[in-house]
Amino acid sequence: MYTPSLILSLFFAQMLLFSAQPLTEEGRGSWQLLLKNVGISSMHTQLLSNDRVVIFDRTDFGASNLSLPQGKCLRDPTGKIKEDCTAHSIEYDVITNTFRPLMVKSDVWCSSGAVIPNGTLVQTGGDGKGERQIRMLSPCPTCDWEERPGLSARRWYATNHILPDGGQIIIGGQKQFNYEFYPKRTATETVFDLPFLAETSDPNIENNLYPYVFLQPDGNLFIFSNNRAILFDYTKDRVVKTFPTIPGGDPRCYPSTGSAVMLPLNLDTEFIEVEVLVCGGAPKGALKKAKRNNFVAALNTCARIKITDPDPKWVMETMPHPWVMPDMLLLPNGQVLLINGASAGAAGWEYGREPVLNPVLYRPSIPFGRRFTFQKATTIPRMYHSTAILLRDGRVLVGGSNPHALYEFTGVLFPTELSLEAFSPWYLDPLFSYVRPSIKNLVSPANLLRGQALKVPFGVPGKVDRTRVSVTILSPAFNTHSFSMNQRLLVLSGRNFRRRGNMTYEVEVTIPESGNVAPPGYYILYLVHREIPSEGIWVHIQ
Ligand SMILES: *[C@@H]1O[C@H](CO)[C@@H](O)[C@H](O)[C@H]1NC(C)=O
Ligand SMILES: *[C@@H]1O[C@H](CO)[C@@H](O)[C@H](O)[C@H]1NC(C)=O
Ligand SMILES: *[C@@H]1O[C@H](CO)[C@@H](O)[C@H](O)[C@H]1NC(C)=O
Repeated sequence: MYTPSLILSLFFAQMLLFSAQPLTEEGRGSWQLLLKNVGISSMHTQLLSNDRVVIFDRTDFGASNLSLPQGKCLRDPTGKIKEDCTAHSIEYDVITNTFRPLMVKSDVWCSSGAVIPNGTLVQTGGDGKGERQIRMLSPCPTCDWEERPGLSARRWYATNHILPDGGQIIIGGQKQFNYEFYPKRTATETVFDLPFLAETSDPNIENNLYPYVFLQPDGNLFIFSNNRAILFDYTKDRVVKTFPTIPGGDPRCYPSTGSAVMLPLNLDTEFIEVEVLVCGGAPKGALKKAKRNNFVAALNTCARIKITDPDPKWVMETMPHPWVMPDMLLLPNGQVLLINGASAGAAGWEYGREPVLNPVLYRPSIPFGRRFTFQKATTIPRMYHSTAILLRDGRVLVGGSNPHALYEFTGVLFPTELSLEAFSPWYLDPLFSYVRPSIKNLVSPANLLRGQALKVPFGVPGKVDRTRVSVTILSPAFNTHSFSMNQRLLVLSGRNFRRRGNMTYEVEVTIPESGNVAPPGYYILYLVHREIPSEGIWVHIQ
């Protein structure tokens, strides 16, 4: 039977086959409830190179809804709780949609992390006895957390970034106006002062926590805190450049939590231009007002800056609505997804109101004024302490939301969420199957050498538009508190297009030479045709 909607979709499918118009994303996307109860509430999360996702919350919550295996218990994890036989971390397997409990031994609350080049998650800091811990989790079916002390300072709400030598820098945290390296670069070093963090800290309210940090192609770090940013040479402990304050001066970092991304780096040009986009947040004083039950509208602006300009200036854009605690994800096709969070109040216990259920897409490269479009809504609010990460297949894994000091399921405005959902952005709509490319004959994970020319064979079911084929690589981020650390998307240079045979094609791209452009480690490689990405494959860059 041909229903009118089927006829309509066949008609659209035909149109897509032959039209070179942009495929439309407005109002699309879909949601799927993956698991109703994974036992813990996702507060921190990271995708590993075996398609498993590490998720953890805190150990000072009391019991979670998931027991540790084999009768294991944590004794005195925080000093407050004497014994806890439940899990506060899980490993979610994307392929089988199952999970297993992991045993994290000290308090990971409001910690940070990065995946090191061999694929191990190195995760640092937290609260209580966890505040100076280094924890590691390797990607293997039976691996569990290992930990030991290792930080020079307490790191609560700090930001980590992976460096070109495979080590990491750990910046800030509550009352820490400094940074340190892990592993240490010299035998005697401890912490290095970073006065910028003190200068951007509001008394009592801070607004400088979980700073937004991005490694630049020139080797410097872009560090954004509160309402402004610097370019920082960590090898010489020196501020290289100071950027202007965002017009209006309102705070964008925790607890006035907004988010930020470094827009995709296009490696096809001689000189790599870099732009950073900061969105949302809460106006000055929002937290104080929320504590008195006055939940003011969040900021409705994004600020975008081309940091490689000789005289960089913030350009303001207006979002479709106010937004505090938005997660910002780079999608394989270079679009930015804003998801989760609220329209009023602030981050922190019980201070968010008016959940945002509709994700919004931002298209960085189309004309100003038309860049935002709505996607389909979910039904589950994802407030404070929720997460979102991109999966290899192009879906977004969404979890968590627990604005309470304990697990609270009843009698509260926003109950603790133990569910995992998948959001499928517009490009996964079956309507676009004719356009969707698939990568052929590349083993995953592919080991790639710097400067290497990589041939990427692919197929497209319908007509191929050879002018709109590109290859991107994405580094999976560590996501917590609405910020994705180490998130970067590179649009590789090259793209010589060849026909290889019946319905198969090939493009040749160059793997970046520089560790400042592509720090060593695992990436997901996507073939993108007319803005529709293939399923990704894992690649490893030495
Ligand atoms: C979680 O555990 C608590 C305490 O055992 C129980 O009351 C609650 O129903 C559980 N919630 C879910 C969603 O499983
Ligand atoms: C990765 O490196 C870490 C830190 O050096 C080490 O503990 C871990 O065993 C390594 N993992 C693998 C799989 O080699
Ligand atoms: C090309 O591939 C399509 C799809 O696999 C197949 O139906 C068709 O027969 C092939 N044509 C030739 C000439 O091999």
